[in-house]
Amino acid sequence: MSEQWWRNAAIYQVYPRSFADGNGDGIGDLAGVRAKLTYLAELGVDAIWFNPWYPSPMADGGYDVADYRGVEPVFGTLEEAEQLIADASDLGLRTIVDIVPNHVSDQHPWFRAALAAAPGSPERDLFHFREGRGEDGELPPNDWKSEFGGCPWTRLPDGQWYLHLFAAAQPDLNWAHPAVREEHLEILRFWFDRGAAGVRIDSAGLLTKDPDLADVEPGRPHPYVDRDDLHEIYRSWRAVADSYSPPRVLIGEIWVPDAERFARYLRPDEMHTAFNFDFLARPWDAAALRESIDTTLAAHAPVGAPATWVLANHDITRTVTRYGREDTRFQFATKSFGTPTDLDLGRRRARAAALLSMALPGALYLYQGEELGLPEVEDLPLDTLQDPMHFRSGGTDPGRDGCRVPLPWSGTHPPYGFTREGKDPWLPQPLDWAPLTVEAQNGDPASMLALYREGIRTRRELRGEFGWLPDAPEGVLAFRRGDVRCLVNLSASPLPLDGEILLASAPLTDGRLPTDTAVWLR
Ligand code: NOJ
Ligand code: CA
Repeated sequence: MSEQWWRNAAIYQVYPRSFADGNGDGIGDLAGVRAKLTYLAELGVDAIWFNPWYPSPMADGGYDVADYRGVEPVFGTLEEAEQLIADASDLGLRTIVDIVPNHVSDQHPWFRAALAAAPGSPERDLFHFREGRGEDGELPPNDWKSEFGGCPWTRLPDGQWYLHLFAAAQPDLNWAHPAVREEHLEILRFWFDRGAAGVRIDSAGLLTKDPDLADVEPGRPHPYVDRDDLHEIYRSWRAVADSYSPPRVLIGEIWVPDAERFARYLRPDEMHTAFNFDFLARPWDAAALRESIDTTLAAHAPVGAPATWVLANHDITRTVTRYGREDTRFQFATKSFGTPTDLDLGRRRARAAALLSMALPGALYLYQGEELGLPEVEDLPLDTLQDPMHFRSGGTDPGRDGCRVPLPWSGTHPPYGFTREGKDPWLPQPLDWAPLTVEAQNGDPASMLALYREGIRTRRELRGEFGWLPDAPEGVLAFRRGDVRCLVNLSASPLPLDGEILLASAPLTDGRLPTDTAVWLR
């Protein structure tokens, strides 16, 4: 069964730039992670997923990869990564590496060669180079939109345009080209050979494009999202993953709203799991969450894949901030500066949501800092922002830097033990984070950290079958996992309880479960 560890694992996401700084230059690194591995082991997680650690100009936080077989010098060396994988493994922690197949950095040797070569050259065939429309080719080749806003085409001095679904520094690879496919199979082997237990696949639903790069037309298959020919690619990846002992795991980042289309990626010969973004996008509302849980479980069952439960990641507004707002959904499109939030309310709900997501059947993902209850940092000085999403929106979208602020470990003032005393971290930390440090929360049974530690430990007992309990009052989520019941009260009234309490997200009042509180009962 340990071969199928991913079916109900708790996986911790490390954003290396912001986790811990080992050499005191203000930027997180692999030495910093190695020094904190016992923290992760004590948290009780089964695996660590690392955001990209490859050599990168950091035009998109490392999702612009210049060399898939190396480590960014700011983070360390390849030998250090190997050592980190080994050290983690000694503590029972598996390593998941982030693979970025849709695009490369504009500094990647392939793209540099393509720029140096002529239009129509084999070097350019590895990407999507096209002539423009209009009389002099001055208009982009089609009507597509960048995932980061604006036009996904950039024109070169020689007149040709190249496609980048994200920032201009991230040219899209041409997945119709056999060399692109072969290269990625080699990259998978490279990291699997170094002990990676699996890979997280970036932008996994976007790789293949309509052969004519046709405009988006309602009623026709989308020219670049969720195309049918993606599946043969992931089947070839699965064959590589299965050729290892123990088999390696494929985890997809797939933003496909249709649950049935989503589950197609999880058929037995494709990926093992994929992030459940539907759950994360839902408002703090019992009916909406229940619907998401039902749809998720119903879609996963026929393909035999476990669901995943995710509340946050390095792209998403921090949970305690989101749940304290009037609109508690997550949507990229509506992100804006100055959205009011009530952090006490948000933290209360985030605690309840943590117990909810930990009790559901499947794998759990948590993003560094979630276990500390960090809020989104919404007042970063504009001149410190780095995210291309902010810049490409013309400055209206605050971007994702606010959820990427370095972790507070200890002490009463920045840098809170993240880097050496007196050094500014690469993004400034708030002045009021002293109560949120690991040091401050350690040993406080009421802290978010204690809730996560206890929840992740106790969650191992929640392996029984899932079923909704009948007759739950409106606004209450009530289900069982075997002989454990999980109740989440999103209604306005306290809920009478019976049974032995295993864990609660907040104290009960007169034996009743208050609003915005979750409990596990036996
Ligand atoms: C998804 C990643 O999570 C995000 O951070 C990145 O900007 C895009 N893919 C492009 O690689
Ligand atoms: Ca450093």
